[in-house]
Amino acid sequence: MKLLQNRIKAALNKLLMRPQIWQVSADTKQIKLINKNLAQSVISLQLETAIIQKKFDLLEGMLAQNQNAMSLAIDKFRADIQEMVVATLKQEEAFSSTIIQKKFDLLEGMLAQNQNTMSLEIDKLRDAIQEVTGATVKQEEYFSSTINRGLSEYEVAVKKLAENQFRQIEALFSLLLALKPEYPLPPTRNWAASPDFLIDLYCRIIEEKPAVVVELGSGVSTIVVAAALRRNQTGRLFSLDHDHAFLLQTEKHLSRHGLEEWVKTYHAPLTEWVPDPSSPTQAGDRFQWYDVPAEVAGLKQIDLLVVDGPPMASSKRCRYPAVPFFYQRLKEGGQVMLDDAHRDDERFIVKAWTTEFAMQLQKVRDSEKGLALLSKVKPNGPAQNAIEKV
Ligand SMILES: C[S@@+](CC[C@H](N)C(=O)[O-])C[C@H]1O[C@@H](n2cnc3c(N)ncnc32)[C@H](O)[C@@H]1O
Repeated sequence: MKLLQNRIKAALNKLLMRPQIWQVSADTKQIKLINKNLAQSVISLQLETAIIQKKFDLLEGMLAQNQNAMSLAIDKFRADIQEMVVATLKQEEAFSSTIIQKKFDLLEGMLAQNQNTMSLEIDKLRDAIQEVTGATVKQEEYFSSTINRGLSEYEVAVKKLAENQFRQIEALFSLLLALKPEYPLPPTRNWAASPDFLIDLYCRIIEEKPAVVVELGSGVSTIVVAAALRRNQTGRLFSLDHDHAFLLQTEKHLSRHGLEEWVKTYHAPLTEWVPDPSSPTQAGDRFQWYDVPAEVAGLKQIDLLVVDGPPMASSKRCRYPAVPFFYQRLKEGGQVMLDDAHRDDERFIVKAWTTEFAMQLQKVRDSEKGLALLSKVKPNGPAQNAIEKV
């Protein structure tokens, strides 16, 4: 019974407990499902965990690997850099030594070039010095030869001067001894005639004993000619001077020496004189020449014409008119004495006279100023221009 009861009770309970049982069963099912799900979740969780672990390991491995690689890379990098630094240093060293070498070469080259340039310059300098020395030597030679030439020229000139001085003194002494003047003579030389000209004039008059003497330009020569005429006790001097004051002085001297009777003096101012238009040497020229007084112009037989005027400054070749004017009044064989024959003008005049007139040059005396003696010859007579230098 009791079993039954228990059974009944159990059945009853069962009946009564069914919903709960069902619930429990459902719950159990649910729980089982949940459990299952849970188990499944756990499994998948485990799986995921394992996967994550794997990944983690992998990552760790990769990290480790990366770390290694990186440290290797860093090492390599460091080594590379060191190598590069060393290489750079070496290169730099090599480069700077190359540069230094280059600079050195360059400097050496420059030095060599400089040395070359300097040696060239030194050569040039040496040449220049040699040239200058040569030029200096030449200049010295030139100077010394010029000085020597100058000195010898000077010596010659001084000697000539001394000789001339002596000749003039000697001539003056002779003149004074010949004239035996009781009164001093007017000055000789410079504007006046020189003693050697005056001696020649005096001697000529003493020797030739001219009857008619015409003088152009008065002064000491007037005294000398008059004194010679007095000594000859024959002849007459006609003396012209363009300068009235100077003529008065000459007249004073003539009177002091008591010579008036042998001389006729004339003031003959200078006036324009035109040469013959057919004159081959002077045609077209104009001269300032004496306005010759009628008495002198009327002379027919002049023995001696003394040409010592007008002064040079009056006009060019101012003494040329003397022969053209007096030629017809000169006697044949009559003489012309020209003073200052060393001057160019007078040389030209002598040539013109002998070319245009029957005048022969007898001599050119090497007196202080030059004395040209010409004589009137027969037209077409002996050869003209034959100059005898005395
Ligand atoms: C060469 S001089 C004549 C010199 C003259 N036959 C003699 O023996 O003294 C020519 C002219 O120059 C003038 N004369 C001369 N002496 C002069 C002087 N010291 N100053 C300026 N004229 C002068 C005179 O008029 C003279 O006629």
